[in-house]
Amino acid sequence: MGARNLPHDARPSAGSARDAFSLRGRVILVTGASRGLGAAMARAFARAGADLILWARDGRRLKRTAAALPRTADLLAQVVDVTRPAAVRAALARAARRFGRIDVLVNNAGVWDGDEALRLARRAWDRVLETDLASVFFLSQAVARRMRRQGYGKIINIASTSGILALPHSAAYGTAKAGLWHLTRILAVEWGPHGIRVTGIAPGVFRTNMTRDLFEDRRWARKRQAEIPLRRFGEPEDLEGLAVFLASGASDHITGQTFVIDGGASLTV
Ligand SMILES: NC(=O)c1ccc[n+]([C@@H]2O[C@H](COP(=O)([O-])OP(=O)(O)OC[C@H]3O[C@@H](n4cnc5c(N)ncnc54)[C@H](OP(=O)(O)O)[C@@H]3O)[C@@H](O)[C@H]2O)c1
Repeated sequence: MGARNLPHDARPSAGSARDAFSLRGRVILVTGASRGLGAAMARAFARAGADLILWARDGRRLKRTAAALPRTADLLAQVVDVTRPAAVRAALARAARRFGRIDVLVNNAGVWDGDEALRLARRAWDRVLETDLASVFFLSQAVARRMRRQGYGKIINIASTSGILALPHSAAYGTAKAGLWHLTRILAVEWGPHGIRVTGIAPGVFRTNMTRDLFEDRRWARKRQAEIPLRRFGEPEDLEGLAVFLASGASDHITGQTFVIDGGASLTV
């Protein structure tokens, strides 16, 4: 299919700003949706009217999170490990039977594991690279094949400011997130002609399960907070506006960009 005369190629309509940010009628798949940033984005998408497909490995927690979401539209919660290709294929097939399309994929599932580079174990390296980078590519590839047939789609990769800052103990995680940053650009170039927009969100330090150990070091937290231009760490809700914007028609002429959301933390050292 050529790049011309595709449905997504239509000029933006002159609707209200509120319409442009609406997710009504959009089917959004969020990986790692059982807690933290994924759960916050799922909540924001539900409020904006999207139909949701939510993935995580812990089925009980996922069910609890799904049950607490505003009931504005349809929802399918699936227990899926994004590093297992067979499970991913089966879940996508079931989701396709239920909804018929996926308009937005949010690659949010991620793990942190780190150590001094001289000590970093192969197992930790593999787990982080597999979850945070390889699975993002292969899930995006599978979903993009469907989006290409639709002539429209959006993929949002949750990167990290660890992908631009050279932080100690982050050889695996920082490298995976830096890779995600570049993957976002490459996929935007390759898939743009099919109407698929690929963008990224790079959070700084947000208060979630992933960063619990960091916050246990109160002295570090106080010192770091004082250095952040906006003088606070991120809360999961801080991600909601940007996530809804990137999932909605309001951002339809944006692709290949990763947006830092960190209260200005990465501007200072
Ligand atoms: N918190 C921060 O400060 C921060 C900063 C920058 C970037 N990020 C990124 O933001 C994303 C979300 O992080 P978070 O802070 O919300 O972490 P979190 O609270 O630890 O949540 C991670 C989510 O990913 C899921 N997950 C992990 N491995 C998975 C797998 N193999 N298959 C499917 N689901 C999986 C977890 O559920 P199960 O364990 O049930 O699978 C959970 O829902 C990650 O990509 C992270 O790297 C976070």
